[in-house]
Amino acid sequence: MKVYVTRNIPASGINLLKTTGHEVVVNPDDRMHTKDELIAILKKEKPDAVLSLLTDKIDGEVMDSAPTVKIFANYAVGFDNFDREAAKRRNILLSNTPSEVLSDSVAEHTFALILALAHRIVESDNFTRSGRYKGWAPFLFLGTLLKGKTLGVIGLGRIGADVVKHSMGIGMKCVYYDVKPNPDFEKQTNARFLSMEDLLKQSDVVSVHVPLNDGTRHLLSTKQFNMMKPTALVINTSRGPVVDEKAVLQALADKKINGFACDVFECEPSIDCDPSDHLELKAMPNVILTPHIASATIEAREDMSKMAAENIIAALSGKTPPNQIK
Ligand code: DGY
Repeated sequence: MKVYVTRNIPASGINLLKTTGHEVVVNPDDRMHTKDELIAILKKEKPDAVLSLLTDKIDGEVMDSAPTVKIFANYAVGFDNFDREAAKRRNILLSNTPSEVLSDSVAEHTFALILALAHRIVESDNFTRSGRYKGWAPFLFLGTLLKGKTLGVIGLGRIGADVVKHSMGIGMKCVYYDVKPNPDFEKQTNARFLSMEDLLKQSDVVSVHVPLNDGTRHLLSTKQFNMMKPTALVINTSRGPVVDEKAVLQALADKKINGFACDVFECEPSIDCDPSDHLELKAMPNVILTPHIASATIEAREDMSKMAAENIIAALSGKTPPNQIK
């Protein structure tokens, strides 16, 4: 059967599809398709399955352009790019690559952002490169010691849990908020469940690890920033719209929080939702911006490729994909 891959990905999954006997057509351009291009290519190729990326909006219109498609298999843990209701109505399967293949990578990246923000790594690297370093000085780039400080994790899925475990290695205290407490996890770690409000008030570092849905959009906004310590550092490696960009800019400008690092953007791929506004993330020194690369390790991306292919292989042989999204 024919599988269309919307952008080139690491070889493991593509090879697996081929050795299973499927024909694989990969977008020859190293860029995402526009919606019109995707519709046109699906009409032309008539694939039986599509391996899609989080940047492909798969809505009812796209699905209708590909009536032969049995599954859209996302190469991502997040699946807010899928219209799940539209797929259900059309009996089309959806799958993702759950966090077991990428949580280590995303948690390490999150922790790298926490360390870099606390120790002012990016600011001081820019300073040194630009030739401004004139010798050791007592107050040069004073940062924050993380040992003994409190990390607040919002969303204790696999990624959030891994971030807690990393923080224990350097002696941070951990609190977390989720829809319900996890006593087993608390026994294994030093983490304590708190209400969202108490977590925001007590944490020195707040890191958010929730999927994007109607309940989590702008989970962190002005009200939440106002509750935080003025020294708090905020990290977002989940989905951009989970943090209200306008509110975080204002909180930084008003010194309601002390730093922000993110790998995802509210108006992605733009890093600025409102370019006419005078406040911009990229102009702020206490902000670190990475271009949605938290899962971008060779290991994670190869595993994601293989897992997306396995979902397709199952669906095309009439089985339930191991990572079906319901
Ligand atoms: C995902 O898989 O959803 C990540 O955001 C990709 O890096």
